Amino acid sequence: MSTPHHDADGTAVPEESRGISRKNLIKAALLAGTVPLVTGGGVALARDRAASAPARGLSATPACQDGDEPTVPNIEGPYFKPDSPLRTDLTGGGMPGTPLALSGYVFGRDCRPVAGALLDFWQADDSGAYDMNGFTLRGHQFSTPLGAFTLTTVVPGLYPGRTRHIHVKVQAPGQPLLTTQLYFPGEPRNSTDAYYDPRLEMTVRAAGSGEQATFDFVLDVDGTPPSTPPSTPPTTPPGSGTWAPGTAYAAGAVVTYNGVTYRCVQAHTSMAGWEPPNVPALWQPA
Ligand SMILES: [Fe+2]
Repeated sequence: MSTPHHDADGTAVPEESRGISRKNLIKAALLAGTVPLVTGGGVALARDRAASAPARGLSATPACQDGDEPTVPNIEGPYFKPDSPLRTDLTGGGMPGTPLALSGYVFGRDCRPVAGALLDFWQADDSGAYDMNGFTLRGHQFSTPLGAFTLTTVVPGLYPGRTRHIHVKVQAPGQPLLTTQLYFPGEPRNSTDAYYDPRLEMTVRAAGSGEQATFDFVLDVDGTPPSTPPSTPPTTPPGSGTWAPGTAYAAGAVVTYNGVTYRCVQAHTSMAGWEPPNVPALWQPA
């Protein structure tokens, strides 16, 4: 009965000092480079809660220091379907429920970002039902060259026997698959769900009429060698052309940027820092 609160709460001083990890330093560099912090449904800093509200629950993700544990696995459950569509927006542009914008990074064991990691999400709809006939609320994507991902979805509903959760499979290129689930803090059923794991809690906050969540995955792999330091990509000046930030581009969309024509290879909502020359995972010269 010493100080369980401090042990379990990320606000304790030792926890804060551990928060200054290689991963956070690398993330800070990423954010200072080409991945901006935006609000209202875009990318946010997955571990920025340290600078805002006190954390609820345990550390949501490993600190990613050398020797730390990768993101833990969690059961696949009975509702996975292979061959989900490639997309970052699972709502199809409109769906009942509370809008949820999830974002974060995929890191390797060495705290370097993992580019091109597969992230395959599936979840229940607002009423707690999975689509086993089609691919509603199912989709896969690949992390950007900086290891980032974004997911546009709705808060999953509850169904018997489980607390609120999102399923995901994450896989670095050519590496073993991690199957796990993401959980919501403060859910009443967290304490009674045998599969709930506080290490898999997202950081969740209200954002307009919806919620914004963040989570970083740490895979048991080496990250991407820093052949392209985060500080170097944004050499492209504000460009001319049809590309614009804040635009939802579908795969196959064609834009021009600084006189070059690009074709979208992965559906996404554009943002400053993701100009076509900077993100070959999203845009390829046409
Ligand atoms: Fe489930």
